[in-house]
Amino acid sequence: MKYKILRYLKDNDDFISGQKISEELGVTRASVWKYINALKEEGYEIESFSKKGYKLIKVSDLLTYEEIKGYLDTQYMGKKIINLSTIDSTNNYMKSIASSMDEGTIITSEEQTSGRGRIGRNWTSPSSKGIYMSILLKPNLDPTKVSKLTLIGAAAVYKALKCIGIESQIKWPNDIVIGSKKVCGILTEMDCELNRIDYIVMGIGINVNLDEIDIPDEISKKATSLKIVIGEKVGRQELLALVLNHFEKLYDYFKKNGDILEVIKICKEHSALLGKEVQIIQSGDIRIGRAIDINKDGELVVEFDEGIERIISGEVSVRGLNNYI
Ligand code: BTN
Repeated sequence: MKYKILRYLKDNDDFISGQKISEELGVTRASVWKYINALKEEGYEIESFSKKGYKLIKVSDLLTYEEIKGYLDTQYMGKKIINLSTIDSTNNYMKSIASSMDEGTIITSEEQTSGRGRIGRNWTSPSSKGIYMSILLKPNLDPTKVSKLTLIGAAAVYKALKCIGIESQIKWPNDIVIGSKKVCGILTEMDCELNRIDYIVMGIGINVNLDEIDIPDEISKKATSLKIVIGEKVGRQELLALVLNHFEKLYDYFKKNGDILEVIKICKEHSALLGKEVQIIQSGDIRIGRAIDINKDGELVVEFDEGIERIISGEVSVRGLNNYI
């Protein structure tokens, strides 16, 4: 009923009385008042005057299904979105409920108090300024193929940004960068048995509307936000939906055909690493080589003095020699 009232307000440009809403939607006036207050708490700005009634002034910026559905073009991805105001980490929370949820369930949170990055790092997650989300996947896939999914996530974010006019690059395997700074990271976690995946949680963090002040000093040379780059705020709701739209298409293709050739093409054409000198940091060892390819299995092919090697993502950190990328 809450969202029926919201729809009603959205369809009317002028004030509508509580009496009219209650008659048309078949609820008591007291309930209308209660639902209006609940909507206000969700961030909707609703003006109310005793003689005139209610008028919607500003819609909420929350990453709820209600606000995102208009942009969604998916069969199952994002059809259930759990939007939290705060949580330690959306990945942690998703893992705690994953077994009873369907594939394509999304958790978004307005802030994270212990957002997690790869290799034990933190993910800065100030309130309402970024997209912090976890996608639940339950593919019938061999656990060794999971790293391909991260590339699907990266390609989906690249394409979503492109759709809103922002050009970025993919830093294999899980970062999206603009210039030499990171705007998005992906943390893919899995629960599996020997040769069967129970579920995968793909956590995507996008620095959307962070200001310089939100970025901790220690990462200010490596990280930026879309707002800082383009000089204006970016709509989080549309961007989130676009990521899901692209993700579902690329993921469904992979599940049906078993290859990620289109994804590899995107990752190669817009790679921040190919042709460049890179540092490969693996179990404490640092080696320098040249990134020369991403092969059909999604592995990074690096030419070292000792010869050519395929690098599989996981506990690998890849750095460009100049600056961050
Ligand atoms: C990285 O680049 O190191 C990966 C960052 C992943 C951050 C996202 S934000 C949503 C989800 N929940 C988390 O705790 N982490 C991921």
